Amino acid sequence: MNSTQEPPPLEGRTVLVAGASGGIGEGMTLGLLQQGAVVVAAGRDAARLRRVSDYADGCGPGTLHTQVIDVADSDSAAVRRELTERYGLFDGAVISIGNWGPPRRAGILDTTDEVWDEMIADNLTSHFRALRAVTPLIAPNGALVHLSGFSAEIPYPGAALVGATNAAKKSLLRSLTAELDGQGPRTYELVIGPIRTRPRAALGADSPAWLTALELGHHAGRLVAGLGPWADEPLQYLLDRASGVHTTVPL
Ligand SMILES: NC(=O)c1ccc[n+]([C@@H]2O[C@H](COP(=O)([O-])OP(=O)(O)OC[C@H]3O[C@@H](n4cnc5c(N)ncnc54)[C@H](OP(=O)(O)O)[C@@H]3O)[C@@H](O)[C@H]2O)c1
Repeated sequence: MNSTQEPPPLEGRTVLVAGASGGIGEGMTLGLLQQGAVVVAAGRDAARLRRVSDYADGCGPGTLHTQVIDVADSDSAAVRRELTERYGLFDGAVISIGNWGPPRRAGILDTTDEVWDEMIADNLTSHFRALRAVTPLIAPNGALVHLSGFSAEIPYPGAALVGATNAAKKSLLRSLTAELDGQGPRTYELVIGPIRTRPRAALGADSPAWLTALELGHHAGRLVAGLGPWADEPLQYLLDRASGVHTTVPL
């Protein structure tokens, strides 16, 4: 990607990865380290973060820190205080949180209130709070990268709440972008297809046609650095390796 004469694109930049313990989050962490960033890998559980360290630490010119914190805590001011005291402003942040449980659920008519509440809490309220806590911590010339799934755009029978929360997450990001109105960090909403991750592969869900979490991390890193043909595109669709990057719905 770089000639040997060029410094790594994220050298000297600090990037927060929220949800670093997840399948995509660990790939993001590795990709950003390979691009030279100081990566703050954040998650709610120390043991899960240790697995990220085992996977990614020492793998880049960049430096890894792990941080136990819940970016989706209702006390966003406390989250901000804790992160700022330790790291100051970030040059970039990736929000890669969520909990979809088993891929197929009951149909809408058979979905209980409990399942509804849990899905909304983990896949929508958490994103709202993470955005509220983290966006003000990013330098005005920095970048925020947020992920939603392509089920935002299509019917998703058997997993309607996955689709509904993805559509709502995407909407949140687009409104945030409009509210910032060019005055805050650049924002990127990446609407992604299935991604090759270690946890998904362990469950037998894997395909060479899918982008890997590491490739997604390299893409996010270029966006944080403001490099490449997509740096000015706030909404991007990355469905699989063959279709590349689109800026309108590739239906
Ligand atoms: N994997 C895919 O193919 C795919 C496809 C489309 C979209 N996506 C999107 O990509 C993002 C990450 O996916 P993934 O596959 O990496 O998921 P994952 O492996 O399940 O990891 C998600 C991480 O989010 C954190 N998390 C879960 N619930 C949370 C909450 N309520 N508050 C704060 N953190 C929470 C968990 O970390 P801790 O519990 O350790 O804090 C977990 O490690 C999700 O937003 C998902 O919508 C993924």
